Amino acid sequence: MRRAWQRIANISRSLYARIVFVYLAGLLLLAVAAAWVAVSQFEQLGREWQQRTQIDLADNLVQVMQGPLRAGANSPAARDAADRILSINPAVSLYVLDADGRVAGNYAEGGCSDDARVSVAALEDLLADEPMLPVVVDAPCSHRASVFSVAPVRFGPGDQRGYLLAVLDAGARMSMFAMLRTSSITRTLLIAGSLAVALAGVLGLLLFALLTRRFKRLTAAVERFAVGDYGQRIEPGRADEIGHLSRAFNDMAATIEAQLDALRENDRQRRELVANLSHDFRTPLTSLRGYAEQLRKAEHLPAETRDAHLAAILANADRLTRLARQLSTLARVDAFEKPLCVDAFSLAELIHDIVGKFRAQAQEAGLDLTVDCAPTLPPVAADLALIDRVLANLIDNAIAATPPGGAVTVSARVVDAQVEVRIVDSGVGLSADELALVTQRFYRTPASRQRGEGSGLGLSIVEEICARHGTRLRLRSVPGEGTHAAFDLPVA
Ligand SMILES: Nc1ncnc2c1ncn2[C@@H]1O[C@H](COP(=O)(O)OP(=O)(O)OP(=O)(O)O)[C@@H](O)[C@H]1O
Ligand SMILES: [Mg+2]
Repeated sequence: MRRAWQRIANISRSLYARIVFVYLAGLLLLAVAAAWVAVSQFEQLGREWQQRTQIDLADNLVQVMQGPLRAGANSPAARDAADRILSINPAVSLYVLDADGRVAGNYAEGGCSDDARVSVAALEDLLADEPMLPVVVDAPCSHRASVFSVAPVRFGPGDQRGYLLAVLDAGARMSMFAMLRTSSITRTLLIAGSLAVALAGVLGLLLFALLTRRFKRLTAAVERFAVGDYGQRIEPGRADEIGHLSRAFNDMAATIEAQLDALRENDRQRRELVANLSHDFRTPLTSLRGYAEQLRKAEHLPAETRDAHLAAILANADRLTRLARQLSTLARVDAFEKPLCVDAFSLAELIHDIVGKFRAQAQEAGLDLTVDCAPTLPPVAADLALIDRVLANLIDNAIAATPPGGAVTVSARVVDAQVEVRIVDSGVGLSADELALVTQRFYRTPASRQRGEGSGLGLSIVEEICARHGTRLRLRSVPGEGTHAAFDLPVA
């Protein structure tokens, strides 16, 4: 019982209940107004009909009354004639009025003495050529607005001008309820009207239920979404307001879901980064510690072994330094809110500078490292420190991948109002599968993983820096023949 009450209370508070209430109240008001107008117009129609069919009545009566009236409006002859008329047609009340509308002769039953005056304007209205019916006057005695028939007449010894007035609806006027009881037209109209109103009411309830059902579905989806079911989507249906709202909800849900996915992916990458980094730091540190320990423990190590241990310690320290440097670059590139420090600088100078730093490494590896860039190369607009890292990472990779006797060439030239930079090596190259993966963070080719070099961060950093400069790193490679890396920079 209490639950039923609760349900009713909930429904009465709902949008549906309120819409239905307003609709039904409006419908009821409209029905009452329409019924009132219809009934009163019906009555009016009845009177108009009565007046129209009997408009010549007074003219006809004048034929009978004119003679006796010469003797006076209240002469026995006139009364006699009037009595005869009324005995045939008792629903009519008959009067003779003077030119001002004052009652001169009253032949109505009971003959009320009345100094009432009838509006001459109304009488003249009906006597005009095309009167607008029904015309009513305040009937003498009864003082009810009534339809009538009128004709000019002369009366009395002085042949006074006046009117013969026949008031037509002398009978009691019907009340609305009496009409309902006795008029089949009114009854049919009322029944048809009631049926139409009931039908409109039921249709309205159904329609609103349908409309609010879509709202309810929308609300349910939003509620499920709010508690974490992010896959919620709504069939938008028609292109109305609710359809638009549903579509807007779907778009919003899709955006939130995509952002959540991105956040999750970010989180996963961050965790992976930390795991990879701790591994990448631990390996050289363990090795470094091992060699240092051996140097400390062993008192008389052969000079060769000692040198080898020291070289291993230095190599591990270098690896750690490299890793730290890549990380700091990565942190800078990842900090997207931080703007680039774009400046105009000479790319030719920068290339010569970096290549100079790598020359010793190239010589040691038995490679031919050359620069091919015209002295007239225009300055470029870019972040100098980041482009430095890009070039260093690409040249470092090229040198590492090229066997002794090979060549690495760094070149720059103007192409379509941009400067294209290329690093070409004749090294081991990359297979198509490897090429698709090299720019992923921490990806290393199986060969380089086996050699235990690199961290797999270099190319991912290069790719991100290029993207932030609005350009794209282009890599082409043929296994066994070499690799070709290129990107563009805008001319300053
Ligand atoms: N020019 C190239 N030729 C052949 N292999 C390449 C070339 N450039 C990169 N690679 C390989 O692609 C992988 C990814 O290179 P990346 O520069 O991202 O990392 P890394 O060189 O291993 O480490 P880091 O550059 O951070 O020290 C590495 O395994 C590397 O050997
Ligand atoms: Mg590298």
